[in-house]
Amino acid sequence: MSGETHETRSPDETLALGRRFAERLARGDCVALSGPLGAGKTLLVRGVAAGLGLADERLVSSPTFVIVREYPARLPVYHVDLYRLTDAAGELAELGLDEMLADGVVLVEWADRAPEALPARRWEVGITLTGPEARRLSIRAPDGRSRP
Ligand SMILES: Nc1ncnc2c1ncn2[C@@H]1O[C@H](COP(=O)(O)OP(=O)(O)O)[C@@H](O)[C@H]1O
Ligand SMILES: [Mg+2]
Repeated sequence: MSGETHETRSPDETLALGRRFAERLARGDCVALSGPLGAGKTLLVRGVAAGLGLADERLVSSPTFVIVREYPARLPVYHVDLYRLTDAAGELAELGLDEMLADGVVLVEWADRAPEALPARRWEVGITLTGPEARRLSIRAPDGRSRP
């Protein structure tokens, strides 16, 4: 299993990592985000949305209570949060995951709650806390995707 690891030492560094990561994303990409509450999943999505040209990145906040949010960026960004869902896989299908992927990029928080409902070819991003303001992010590209 190939992958890469990044360390960030502040929220701003995680935002910046998200902006850079955005350059590697294309229409149809699904990004599975996992890590505990407060890991920085939402912040990373905010960086990605900014990197894809979302004018006001403050629009990006946790979609926990609405399940999915769409941000108008160069590529539409769909931000999904499976936290609290009892039937995460069923909800994902109902939300129209396929249509979202046909339209833009889909980033899924708490993806580990319904991995079977996500495309097999997906980015996997795992975030762990390594200090009060320190995070370790592992990024694994979809199979066959060349990495810079
Ligand atoms: N290096 C870091 N990267 C990301 N967030 C950090 C970092 N250091 C501290 N934080 C804080 O951790 C919290 C992450 O929140 P959020 O992105 O909503 O996490 P999640 O969506 O994983 O629950 C924020 O309050 C942020 O300020
Ligand atoms: Mg979140």
